[in-house]
Amino acid sequence: MIPWEEIDRAKIPGHKGEVTLRRRGSEFSIRTLDTELMNSRLHGSEDALAELTCNRVEKSNLKILIGGLGMGYTLAAAIKQSEPDTLITVSELIPAVAKWNREHLGHLAGMPLDNPRVTLRVEDIAKTIGKKKSAWDVILLDVDNGHEGLTQKTNDRLYNKAGLKKSFSALCPKGILGIWSSNDDEAFTRRLKQVGFQVQTKSIRARKSKKNSRHTIWLAEKP
Ligand SMILES: C[S@@+](CC[C@H](N)C(=O)[O-])C[C@H]1O[C@@H](n2cnc3c(N)ncnc32)[C@H](O)[C@@H]1O
Repeated sequence: MIPWEEIDRAKIPGHKGEVTLRRRGSEFSIRTLDTELMNSRLHGSEDALAELTCNRVEKSNLKILIGGLGMGYTLAAAIKQSEPDTLITVSELIPAVAKWNREHLGHLAGMPLDNPRVTLRVEDIAKTIGKKKSAWDVILLDVDNGHEGLTQKTNDRLYNKAGLKKSFSALCPKGILGIWSSNDDEAFTRRLKQVGFQVQTKSIRARKSKKNSRHTIWLAEKP
């Protein structure tokens, strides 16, 4: 068995913790001290987050917001789904994750940051969402392992009622919010509905072709 090699580590802004980038052969892992945030072998559900949402909106002049970057699989899937006039913004909290994508990880998802239709903002996606009303056709949230702050505690504000209302306002009419999670939660589905979304949940395999763990994706549409 090839041992893991640590490539780099970095502080999480506004948080006591750190994230590390590790490699084992061709496999890469980004983790906080106690939890893996992303592994390059498992991205079926990260791809599906972009595929399931982008397929539900009118495709002309799409504006897509993705948080966070991770290893760029959701971004690459959004690029694949989009048209030449689509603009995609990615908000990534941790500057080192952006740097790692440029230096070590870009090849994994086909160098999505090099696409001229992609803008990377190194900022908290809560801030990006709060900036403008009716700005986005699609907002994709994959910043924690679910609908509770993991990378940083303040991410809870993305999933509480006030935070979901902000995403609702930031979406254009008929826009869609997609949220990735390691598990389903009926109470969270109810919260999305209370804010005004029409909601579906999808159970998606972590790796498309394999029988392995399933993840949940909430598809929350603004009427
Ligand atoms: C699970 S990974 C995303 C995986 C990504 N979907 C992919 O395809 O590789 C979570 C990412 O969200 C970032 N993140 C965490 N909190 C954030 C926030 N509040 N705003 C923006 N990015 C955030 C993390 O630094 C990490 O890069």
